[in-house]
Amino acid sequence: MTAVVPDPVSVGARTPVRTATPRHYLMCPPTYFTVEYAINPWMQPGIDVDRHRALAQWDALRRTYLDLGHRVDLLTPVPGLPDMVYAANGATVVDGTVLAARFRHPQRAGEAVAHATWFRAAAARVVEPEFVNEGEGDLLVVGDLILAGHGFRTDPRAHAEAARVFGREVVSLELVDPRYYHLDTAVAVLDATTIAWLPEAFRPASRALLQEHFPDAVVADATDAAVLGLNAVSDGRHVVLPIRATRLAAAVAERGFVPVPVDLSELLKGGGGPKCCTLEVRS
Ligand code: ARG
Repeated sequence: MTAVVPDPVSVGARTPVRTATPRHYLMCPPTYFTVEYAINPWMQPGIDVDRHRALAQWDALRRTYLDLGHRVDLLTPVPGLPDMVYAANGATVVDGTVLAARFRHPQRAGEAVAHATWFRAAAARVVEPEFVNEGEGDLLVVGDLILAGHGFRTDPRAHAEAARVFGREVVSLELVDPRYYHLDTAVAVLDATTIAWLPEAFRPASRALLQEHFPDAVVADATDAAVLGLNAVSDGRHVVLPIRATRLAAAVAERGFVPVPVDLSELLKGGGGPKCCTLEVRS
């Protein structure tokens, strides 16, 4: 009798087994979170925000990362910076080098300073940017590549700047739908070679580029995107994503990833989800 030994990288219907790697994240509690200005279509100034609920939801996200074995550092929230909870926008960190952010809107300018100060205190090399870039909102690391968005926030000239600072190839992508104003609302990085994305969020030429680089990408649909389902954080195996993005959760599960749904409904009022609240510190 011959024993059938399953191929270690695939089980069942050849679904790959995905591997998590420990991550280091920076987050900022929504202590001063409000929606008092509108800089994206999700924001309705003056809408009731339940800050206790926002804090509880944010804390559940933080604990989810800790339970998955990741490290989470915290940035001290600053009064008067209500969007500071969206820590992903405050910087981009690759190989220990920090490209500071430079926000498009003056309301968020102080956040870049808070991030740069934190990284300098942590003895990191911080590069001050020449052009507007909203951190990991528009600069997404996929393996050796950086996907870079423009159209609403980040200046396209910041893409070449990021390529120079990090010494990496940058793929420039133009966003066209104001609801998906940051790249991290239209693309989710699942691992070094896999993304999930919403094709309609991009100019046709950018769509073609993504298709060429990621022929096996998970294609999200409009209903997933409309609950910011693509605003997800993956450690290579676990994909932390908004609880309402049920189809996307099923689609990533089919590819061998493990969806980890979280409810950030209060923070959606500011136009953000799990990824917006999470800056990855890549040493
Ligand atoms: N209210 C914030 C803004 O419009 C939300 C930022 C969301 N962050 C993100 N990474 N997409 O700037």
